[in-house]
Amino acid sequence: MDQHSADQELVRRLGERVKELTVLQETVRILQDESQPIRELMADVVRQLPPAWQYPEITGARVFFRDMDVRSPNFRPTEWMQSVRFTTLTGEQGGVDVCYLEERPQAADGPFLEGERALLNSLAQMLRSHFQHVAALEALRQAHDDLEAQVRLRTRLASELSLSEARQRRIIAGELHDHIGQALAFIRVRLSRLQGDAVFSGFEDTLADIMRLVEQAINSTRSLTFQISPPVLYELGLQAGLEWLGDQLGQEHDVNLRVDADGAVDDLPDDTRVVLFQAARELIVNAIKHAGPRHIVVSAALSGGEATVSVVDDGSGFDVARLNTSGAEMTTFGLFSIRERLDYLGGSMTIESRPGSGTSVILRAPARSASAGKDQ
Ligand SMILES: Nc1ncnc2c1ncn2[C@@H]1O[C@H](COP(=O)(O)OP(=O)(O)OP(=O)(O)O)[C@@H](O)[C@H]1O
Ligand SMILES: [Mg+2]
Repeated sequence: MDQHSADQELVRRLGERVKELTVLQETVRILQDESQPIRELMADVVRQLPPAWQYPEITGARVFFRDMDVRSPNFRPTEWMQSVRFTTLTGEQGGVDVCYLEERPQAADGPFLEGERALLNSLAQMLRSHFQHVAALEALRQAHDDLEAQVRLRTRLASELSLSEARQRRIIAGELHDHIGQALAFIRVRLSRLQGDAVFSGFEDTLADIMRLVEQAINSTRSLTFQISPPVLYELGLQAGLEWLGDQLGQEHDVNLRVDADGAVDDLPDDTRVVLFQAARELIVNAIKHAGPRHIVVSAALSGGEATVSVVDDGSGFDVARLNTSGAEMTTFGLFSIRERLDYLGGSMTIESRPGSGTSVILRAPARSASAGKDQ
């Protein structure tokens, strides 16, 4: 191979790599949307598989889990297939298949590239962990039915769910940042070297296109990393985390959102900080979603061995007596889940609200976590 075609080959390979990273990133985004039913989520994943393979026009894809089996319209078993199977912790089976409809030249794994095999494995890994998370969520929702008998298990599941979610988010954010982000940065450096190269005269437009894609992928990786697991919460603490949250939600929804947080809350145990942060987010979102307020004030303080976080809005308010957070008829999840998580930590939630006069929610949690000695 002469230098020219070696370099062309390199550009082609980099192009493939960008496609693979894009699909991984897109999958992370799809899996973040918890409101989406599993089947639709699987369909979204299936849709974006073929474009990431080397010959999209002859590529079919399939994702299956439990009794759900979602296929691209052209999918059928052929001689040229790549497959991964997985089993969740609770023994449920799933998998991902990709097929070529026609023969193509031999590559690393039949007609498939090495990167495509790695991509398929990563996707299966992500789906498995997502399905496990969904299963935990379903188990939690089910546990309400027999409240008396299930109360201990439920409390524990709620807390584990919240912590496992936080943990999972941190892992995904770390992966995004350390692997995808760095691989992209590396690709950018290599590409920019090629750009000045005389060998590439005639390929400037293609190179510029790939460069633009890489830039886009870098930017969205960065913002996605931040959304998934705001590093401020872990690195700078709860005070900075709440301030960040206030800025984000205030700007996004155009409400006047003030955060007044005392730095002492940074000394709370990790799980308490995570719970309070998630709860504050849910309460702010509730105010925005249900009440149309002009002002929201979030306060956080620590005194007498107790942390207090309050979220007060001047929106429409509601009748607290009608709030149904127990028993089988329960239909909403947000406030219930906050109450469970706080219970587990030995804390509490107080809601004051009346139609027409705003809502005030106060969360309390002991500065030393009451669950620290439990179950460990
Ligand atoms: N700040 C608020 N202002 C007015 N109504 C509220 C406020 N917070 C909660 N509510 C009422 O309480 C109900 C229960 O809230 P909860 O967060 O549990 O559920 P949700 O927000 O409706 O759904 P989700 O399960 O997605 O959180 C809401 O449906 C709404 O009617
Ligand atoms: Mg809610």
